[in-house]
Amino acid sequence: MNILVAGGAGFIGSQLVDSLLANGHRVICADKLVMGDKNIQHLMGNSSFVFYNTELADQESTDRIFHTEQIDAVYHMAANSDIQKGGRKPSIDFNDTLLTTRSLLEGMRKSGVKKLFFASTSAVYGEMPDVKLTETTGGLMPVSYYGGAKLASEALISSYVSMCDISAVIFRFPNVIGPRLTHGAVFDFIRKLRADPSRLEILGNGKQCKPYIYVLDLVEAILKQTEDFGTGESVYNISVISPGTTVTRIAEIVTEEMGLENVRFCYTGGDRGWKGDVPRFSYDIGKILSTGWKPKHTSDEAVRQTVKDALAAGM
Ligand SMILES: NC(=O)c1ccc[n+]([C@@H]2O[C@H](COP(=O)([O-])OP(=O)(O)OC[C@H]3O[C@@H](n4cnc5c(N)ncnc54)[C@H](O)[C@@H]3O)[C@@H](O)[C@H]2O)c1
Repeated sequence: MNILVAGGAGFIGSQLVDSLLANGHRVICADKLVMGDKNIQHLMGNSSFVFYNTELADQESTDRIFHTEQIDAVYHMAANSDIQKGGRKPSIDFNDTLLTTRSLLEGMRKSGVKKLFFASTSAVYGEMPDVKLTETTGGLMPVSYYGGAKLASEALISSYVSMCDISAVIFRFPNVIGPRLTHGAVFDFIRKLRADPSRLEILGNGKQCKPYIYVLDLVEAILKQTEDFGTGESVYNISVISPGTTVTRIAEIVTEEMGLENVRFCYTGGDRGWKGDVPRFSYDIGKILSTGWKPKHTSDEAVRQTVKDALAAGM
């Protein structure tokens, strides 16, 4: 297939691009390189890989890609992935997270492309700490601009599925970590400890607890679930089977892997790291498990492997 990966130069998108190419697809990657091009440099010169350095929220530029390329399916991975940055400047989420969805859907409508994968997020649920979240849990009230823009994207997709007979597979990712990750608690902690190995500032009270999925487990699930896009819209919560990992546990794993002892953990206090953060949530992932997919890593293993990957990469 000819596959458009929007946001294919990012952390998860580039891992997906590598796997799609390995499976024999031709990949058209469209990205404005917010994180640079290091994740796709190794693909330049590959005859099955085409790259467009483009602003995907811009309809004309996006239409041009659909006009130039014969596209069979779209994997929409483009978004602002830094929730705190969007918190300081909401227009980033409006542009990168919502308007990219609109222009891709319009491109699909005009050129008759019928298959869409969309990278959504647990942030669409907002704060429901006492609810086991299923794909049909209602009354969703996101607490970040990012979560709002993703939920609005899901709503737009639903309308295009109905109006244009598009088949859409939507995954609501938890925290995703692994090789090529560039931000988040693991990286903050490594950076801080490199600067001062005797103490570590931890945002919040350290009890924030979230599931962390290893990026290659996630990519495997995406490929499995999009072998056949089916009909209509399919939404999946995706996560690990094990309980989540607390922020304090992440700090412990980082210090262990860095070989540091007697590090003083200093908490900034409060039940969350920043405004818009959801300190804990609990997913029901029965639907995705019933497809036969199973993650290889637990949440703690995903964190530890990511720390090892980052240290091995010279961080
Ligand atoms: N990383 C996570 O923990 C996580 C969790 C939940 C959902 N997601 C979603 O998964 C997807 C991939 O996340 P990631 O962590 O790889 O993020 P990332 O920031 O590494 O990659 C996103 C890519 O999208 C590109 N992009 C953003 N806005 C664009 C625009 N307007 N035009 C063109 N390119 C644009 C960026 O340049 C970047 O390369 C995103 O949709 C994100 O919201 C990620």
